[in-house]
Amino acid sequence: MALDSNKTAKVTFGDKELDFAMMSPSLGPDVIDIRKLYAQGDVFTYDPGFTSTASCESAITYIDGDKGELLYRGYPIDQLAEKSHFLEVCYLLLYGELPTAAQLDDFVPRVTRHTMLQDQMTYFYRGFRRDAHPMATMVGVVGAMSAFYHDSTDITDPDQREIAAIRMIAKIPTIAAWAYKYSIGQPFVYPRNDLDYASNFLHMCFAVPAEDYVVDPILSRAMDRIFTLHADHEQNASTSTVRLAGSSGANPFACIAAGIACLWGPAHGGANEACLNMLREIGTVDRIPEFIARAKDKNDPFRLMGFGHRVYKNFDPRAKVMKQSADEVLGLLGIDNNPTLQVAKELERIALEDEYFVEKKLYPNVDFYSGIILDAMGFPTSMFTPIFALARTVGWVSQWKEMIADPTQKIGRPRQLYTGAKHRDYVDVEKR
Ligand code: CMC
Repeated sequence: MALDSNKTAKVTFGDKELDFAMMSPSLGPDVIDIRKLYAQGDVFTYDPGFTSTASCESAITYIDGDKGELLYRGYPIDQLAEKSHFLEVCYLLLYGELPTAAQLDDFVPRVTRHTMLQDQMTYFYRGFRRDAHPMATMVGVVGAMSAFYHDSTDITDPDQREIAAIRMIAKIPTIAAWAYKYSIGQPFVYPRNDLDYASNFLHMCFAVPAEDYVVDPILSRAMDRIFTLHADHEQNASTSTVRLAGSSGANPFACIAAGIACLWGPAHGGANEACLNMLREIGTVDRIPEFIARAKDKNDPFRLMGFGHRVYKNFDPRAKVMKQSADEVLGLLGIDNNPTLQVAKELERIALEDEYFVEKKLYPNVDFYSGIILDAMGFPTSMFTPIFALARTVGWVSQWKEMIADPTQKIGRPRQLYTGAKHRDYVDVEKR
């Protein structure tokens, strides 16, 4: 980020007046460099939820929430979703440029060579209860990778960082598919490197040893798009978690496991599962007004899952592509009128017209439509967030690699506004 010598920000408080340099990003609002604020002014800033704080410098993903724009390395998400494919997008996110044909020919087998899991890991799965949520299994298995791949945990070695990145991207579909297979009591299906990334994942989820599964190209394309649309999203909660974990020097597998744990929450990646559960709970179109009323009621914690976004205050650009994909998939599968879909369509219509949602700019987000597609494909709701985690792994890995290579990188250590008790003396238990 360039320091802009012509612009400074003046901060005045008490008898102090301090000047801070401004930084100009390539896109987006200017940034005030307050790194010296505490040293010079003996004060902190207060910004819970980081709504006004840039926690790092990054050249990977850009979001303009007002315009409803999402760029990976400068390329609009709708162009990538239409013209590219997931492994090409992985290359773009990791290395900064779209690959040439030769680079892609080198990259794709470099990933597919690593799709198998160390065989000992099958026993690790067996330690989980069968009814464990696949996200719980994924957090455990990904965290355990550092115990299986010692030779790629030295973060000071660029070659080890690279191999760790490739391993994560290659193995995460196998890890997610096996978490699913384990939860339904079916044998693990090994990866097939003759299939593309999305088809291989569908095959590992839906094939069984007794019967082969032929991947429909429309479903594989839709899956690939879901991966592309979820691949990265700037400094969201899980990515910031990965960066914070990584800032202490933790190994990449531990950092990605931390990101998966954070993604699980219903305000983040867990929203797609929560959204479909909500549509099912609503059940029929006539019950929608009751749920809309609950969403508006300040005394009711209920929120319409799949609506709203911290950054997008216009339509979520991913949701636009996802909606089109949902229409294609439902058309192919001949599902155009099941009750969940009817509720979804009517809820979308009402929310887009309702004053509360319009005024607060609460549009359907990516999770609203992805849940509908994944449900139609035959995935149980418990697999929705693992699929999000699978897709986001490349984003987490790219952001982690960028952070480690950044010479200004420091351990993340926010400060606080302390409102607890002042000094007091210990009182013996019998006197309390
Ligand atoms: N239903 C009803 N009201 C809502 C909703 C909703 N889904 N989302 C926000 N609001 C209201 C909220 O009550 C608040 O009202 P007021 O100003 O009167 O207090 C106002 O809108 C602003 O909400 P906020 O909580 O300050 O906004 P935020 O930026 O902190 O939260 C959010 C963003 C995504 C957590 C939130 O919109 C939400 O909980 N949505 C449902 C969960 C969801 O779909 N999450 C997936 C996000 S997209 C995938 C991803 O990137 O992870």
